[in-house]
Amino acid sequence: MNESTRSPIARRRAVLCALLLLGACSSPTAQPPLEGAHIGGPFTLTSGDGRTVTDRDFAGKYRIVYFGFTHCPDVCPTDLAALGEAMRRLERSDPKRAAKIQPLFISVDPQRDTPAVVKEYAAAFHPRILGLTGTPRQIAAVAKEYAVYYAPEPAQPGGGYGVDHSRVLLLMGPDGKPIALLPQDKGVDGIVAEIDRWVT
Ligand code: NI
Repeated sequence: MNESTRSPIARRRAVLCALLLLGACSSPTAQPPLEGAHIGGPFTLTSGDGRTVTDRDFAGKYRIVYFGFTHCPDVCPTDLAALGEAMRRLERSDPKRAAKIQPLFISVDPQRDTPAVVKEYAAAFHPRILGLTGTPRQIAAVAKEYAVYYAPEPAQPGGGYGVDHSRVLLLMGPDGKPIALLPQDKGVDGIVAEIDRWVT
């Protein structure tokens, strides 16, 4: 039966089926939630061994970017522990895919987080989490690029202080563009599921 001999109803049904098929096909190729968002950009920081590190060093790699500080009492350790466990799981289930991901921990407390401090801290959660710090100006610049807020809190009587900061685990693509927020509130399972969804 060619197109001209089809009844209007049959034709409409054919169109509907085509639309349904498109719908069915659209989920695996769904748009990344952060596609087009103004997040990410060039940065220059310092790694644990005192080496200058820029965004270009990670070209071609997925990145998971987390901002925090090593004196953080609870939030940063919780999120980094979940990220570390997610990486261990991926390394067990799909080492090739895990190797495509570079997790980064960027300090928002450059005054206390020296390169050596940030390196040891990040690596304690997973040896592949790269701790980065920089001058206050470099940190301000990278936080701005990543739309991350941070602000030191007033000093406590003992002289210590906290740093209020955004709590985001950002998945960035090999092109440095944002893909999705990894749901740290859903624990390791949630993080792994979201990585599975987008890292190919
Ligand atoms: Ni924190």
